[in-house]
Amino acid sequence: MPDVPQLLTILVVEDNPADLFVLEGLLWKTRLNIEKIYRANSFGEAVLLLESNKPQLILLDLSLTDSAGIDSFEHINQIASDIPIIVLTGLADMEMALETMSKGAQDYLVKGEFEEKLLAKSIQYSIERKRNLENTLSTRMAMEQKLEEERNLKQKEIAEAVIIAQEKERHDLSRELHDNVNQQLTVAMMYIASAEKKQEGGSDILKQSANFIFNAIEEIRKLTKNLVTPLIKDFGLVKAIDSIIDDVAALNTVQIHFNSESFFENDIRYDFKLSIFRIIQEQVSNVLKHAAAKHCTIELGRNEQIIYLIVSDDGIGFDTSTQKNGIGIYNITSRVELFGGTISIVAASNMGCKISIEFPVNDAILS
Ligand SMILES: Nc1ncnc2c1ncn2[C@@H]1O[C@H](COP(=O)(O)OP(=O)(O)OP(=O)(O)O)[C@@H](O)[C@H]1O
Ligand SMILES: [Mg+2]
Repeated sequence: MPDVPQLLTILVVEDNPADLFVLEGLLWKTRLNIEKIYRANSFGEAVLLLESNKPQLILLDLSLTDSAGIDSFEHINQIASDIPIIVLTGLADMEMALETMSKGAQDYLVKGEFEEKLLAKSIQYSIERKRNLENTLSTRMAMEQKLEEERNLKQKEIAEAVIIAQEKERHDLSRELHDNVNQQLTVAMMYIASAEKKQEGGSDILKQSANFIFNAIEEIRKLTKNLVTPLIKDFGLVKAIDSIIDDVAALNTVQIHFNSESFFENDIRYDFKLSIFRIIQEQVSNVLKHAAAKHCTIELGRNEQIIYLIVSDDGIGFDTSTQKNGIGIYNITSRVELFGGTISIVAASNMGCKISIEFPVNDAILS
């Protein structure tokens, strides 16, 4: 026997007083433990009643004067989506009754064709069926939510792996350039210098060769500086950002203003600081490459809830709806997502570009 609530509350929506009288009589005759019967003699009254009451079952006449047939059912089913509905119909309206079943009614009863036993059984099974449906739905929703969470986690893991691999590659490349290529170039330069001394009066060709090699060594030094960031560990993030700004200042093209008044970093994880550093490096390089800007502002701040970073410039901007992101913006976004942050990029033609990022201050960030 289905499990029916101990005390039942039922809403009867019926505008024919004679039908209502018969139905109520049958309801009381069933052995169900009925606590209360709400009566609504119009569709409007039913809607009003459902605003402040939650019966466990609705018996709905399909031919109400103020709303008819499928409409009445669909509307009531919408406002009382978790309450089982049994529709009451005349013999002539059987087709409509069947349609309500396909739209979610739990059962239908033909007026004048049922007695208290059939009524009781219909009520019990309707309540049970609705409950099973709700359970299935909530199980499915829980499974879908779990799947979504797993998908997000996987994405985060991939982003993390990409970033770690990228940092390692940068590190290896930098070491190779610094320890191997640069050492060999330095030795070559020394050989040339000594060959130059041995030649009488020196040789312009040798001198020039030495200059080329010196320039190559300097270029590699600059490159390796971008690739690794020992400054963060030794002197902190703010100092490392200062060094980016010094490098840009030397180029004499864009004026960068850096504000980090409310920022403090002593309790922040190294990999988070490195990500902030890389984001700034990436966007400053975009400003230099694409913006033709006069000014650029970097704002790094912190309060109890968030760490925020804003990089804006007054350059030529770009149309975000047509401009395809490159690796740079993709990397920035991956790093933001990795630490559970959010990013907004506002840019428009000749209106500059502003990237605003926020990270929640939590265990993903704190050391
Ligand atoms: N500050 C900016 N001002 C103007 N345009 C910008 C700015 N930042 C980004 N863009 C535009 O957005 C595009 C995508 O930038 P992104 O950094 O992703 O790629 P990229 O700089 O072209 O290449 P990569 O960074 O991979 O070397 C750029 O090509 C550029 O058109
Ligand atoms: Mg770029």
